[in-house]
Amino acid sequence: MVTRLSSDAGNVADGIVTVIPTIFRLIIELVATFFTLFYYEPRLAIFALSIAPIVAVVCFLLGRKLKVLQVKVQETESAYRSFMQESLSNLLVVKAFANEQYSTDKLVELRDERFYWVLKKSKMGIISSTIMSISFQLGYIAAFAFGAIQLSRKVITYGTMSVFLTLVNRIQAPVMSLAQYVPKVVNILASAGRIIEIQDIPMEEKLENHIEAENIGININNLTFGYTEEEVLEGANIQIRPGEFVAIVGESGIGKTTLVRLIMSFMSEVGGCIEFNNSLGQVEKANAGTRNFISYVPQGNTLFSGTIRENVRMGRLDCTEEEIVEALTMASGYEFVSELPNGLDTVIGESGHGISEGQAQRIAIARALVRKAPFLILDEATSSLDEKTELSVLQGIQNISPRPTCLLITHRRSVLKYCDREICIYEKKIFEQLI
Ligand SMILES: Nc1ncnc2c1ncn2[C@@H]1O[C@H](COP(=O)(O)OP(=O)(O)OP(=O)(O)O)[C@@H](O)[C@H]1O
Ligand SMILES: [Mg+2]
Repeated sequence: MVTRLSSDAGNVADGIVTVIPTIFRLIIELVATFFTLFYYEPRLAIFALSIAPIVAVVCFLLGRKLKVLQVKVQETESAYRSFMQESLSNLLVVKAFANEQYSTDKLVELRDERFYWVLKKSKMGIISSTIMSISFQLGYIAAFAFGAIQLSRKVITYGTMSVFLTLVNRIQAPVMSLAQYVPKVVNILASAGRIIEIQDIPMEEKLENHIEAENIGININNLTFGYTEEEVLEGANIQIRPGEFVAIVGESGIGKTTLVRLIMSFMSEVGGCIEFNNSLGQVEKANAGTRNFISYVPQGNTLFSGTIRENVRMGRLDCTEEEIVEALTMASGYEFVSELPNGLDTVIGESGHGISEGQAQRIAIARALVRKAPFLILDEATSSLDEKTELSVLQGIQNISPRPTCLLITHRRSVLKYCDREICIYEKKIFEQLI
């Protein structure tokens, strides 16, 4: 995706500002010269242009091949860049398993593969320009011979002959230059195709909320979804009333995060129905717009590089300084943040680099709390906290007024005493458990 958005977008942008204007200029030059020569001697003009069909055929045949090669070059480029980026961001894992040599070898392998396709494409480019260049020279020689024969038959004068040779050159040169641009045009078309593929991804449905965003509950009916043919959830049903604290348990890989992603409307092609409701009895079908009802703490480290303040503000961009402090306090994070030399202005690296896992989790919880949405989803959001801190975070959340509805994925039994209900995912269905 990054290669498409940077390298491919760059190719297209370069094409629009340099290649296309140059092609226009060459076409204008060609047409103007052709008609000038045509004015003096129509037969010679047509003869001079006889090189064009040869060039067109060569360009057509090579252009198709070049396009395939360009797509290959971009694909191998993506694989090479992805591996490099992943290895650098997981450098500690590489070191921990003494995989330096393995990573280097794999990178060299990916580089060689990329090199192979770049070389193949370059060879094709060189062959095409050599064919063009030879046909240009032959064309000029043929034009000279043709002019000389016409001259010997006294059909044309010396003056016309010298004008002819000058103009032949000026007709054939733009034709050749146009041919030289074929690989670039092919690059642009291949890159444009890769960008269009992104545009073809359907836009998600985002509707205006039409229910009051207070005391939000959820009703899930006959929910069926699979990432592949194999379903993760099949005919699952659950109802969560406004204000309830509900724990979701279930073994690893059973579909807890998937259920949350479906509630968040991150996925398309979902069977069944997910509806939000409120205590006024109003109902709204889940769509990208109903994310406004939800504060979400995703599983894993999801912080951005930047200051702690910037990270918390992402929950709601117009929140005040007091609200940031309040959210951090509820998430039991304000104490450690205020002890840092730069406090809220402490800069953290990519994925929370520079702070501990549990500290990152508390900042992620504060980011969700500052949003003040009526429905809170915590996906193993306190898994790195010690029991005491975890319980104080949950107490903080329960004391929020008005109390949000809360869906909490957890593997810890100690958390359950803070929940009204426990539900369990088992064999693609959702079951009620007794606490
Ligand atoms: N993006 C994805 N593409 C394909 N399959 C996926 C994807 N994400 C999850 N899965 C599969 O869907 C199933 C459910 O995954 P999910 O992440 O919902 O599990 P989970 O219950 O949250 O597990 P955990 O407790 O380990 O977080 C798993 O079998 C997993 O392999
Ligand atoms: Mg999960």
